[in-house]
Amino acid sequence: MTPRRAREGSGLWVTFEGGDGSGKTTQAGLLQQWLQASGRSVVRTREPGGTDVGRLVRDIVLHHRGDIAPRAEALLYAADRAHHIATVVRPALERGDVVIQDRYLDSSVAYQGAGRVLDPAEIRELSLWATAGALPDLTVLLDLDPHSARARLDADDKPFDRLEAERGEFHERVRAAFLELAAAEPDRFLVLEAARPVDELAAAVRARVESLLDAQGAVGPNA
Ligand code: TYD
Repeated sequence: MTPRRAREGSGLWVTFEGGDGSGKTTQAGLLQQWLQASGRSVVRTREPGGTDVGRLVRDIVLHHRGDIAPRAEALLYAADRAHHIATVVRPALERGDVVIQDRYLDSSVAYQGAGRVLDPAEIRELSLWATAGALPDLTVLLDLDPHSARARLDADDKPFDRLEAERGEFHERVRAAFLELAAAEPDRFLVLEAARPVDELAAAVRARVESLLDAQGAVGPNA
């Protein structure tokens, strides 16, 4: 069963998901610019690492030298998430802000579930427990085949983090898991082919966000 979004407030919560190198950060930035230009108050954030505590967790999960047991890795991401939602995301939504977030629980289901081969349903439940059931209004999935993604990361010239350094088949499983999640919740997800031109993708994201904001306006206090 899909839990209802367990939160108050009139804000809008948009998350971006996809493999490493799929262009989430670019699209999140363009959406932020557009919303701010139209006078909206926007909070731009990310997981892991959207808080001071989260930055410590991020350093462990991405840069620890040596193995981390898969269940420990899952708990670290969930701990980051619990603190982030409680101290950044929920308060922003309660103020009525738009929250634009790089990665959320779908990343855990895809990376720790399918990637690390833990039970995806358990991973989802863990995150929902951590956040008291918070689910975004919209999740944009930027879908890209792992070969093209790897080429983009190689061109970037930054050293790979622990997850990026995983083998190709890991990233194939992650991709398939994201697509399955999107198919299971078509109302929450907007799936876009990340190889399309940046402007086209941005326009598709804007169109969906605009319709969600219009729908909120229609039932909101000022309607
Ligand atoms: P990412 O947003 O890609 O950071 P950067 O853009 O700086 O590389 O996220 C970092 C990595 O963490 C990415 O490889 C996916 C992974 N990840 C998980 O494995 N589980 C999670 O729950 C989250 C949020 C991220």
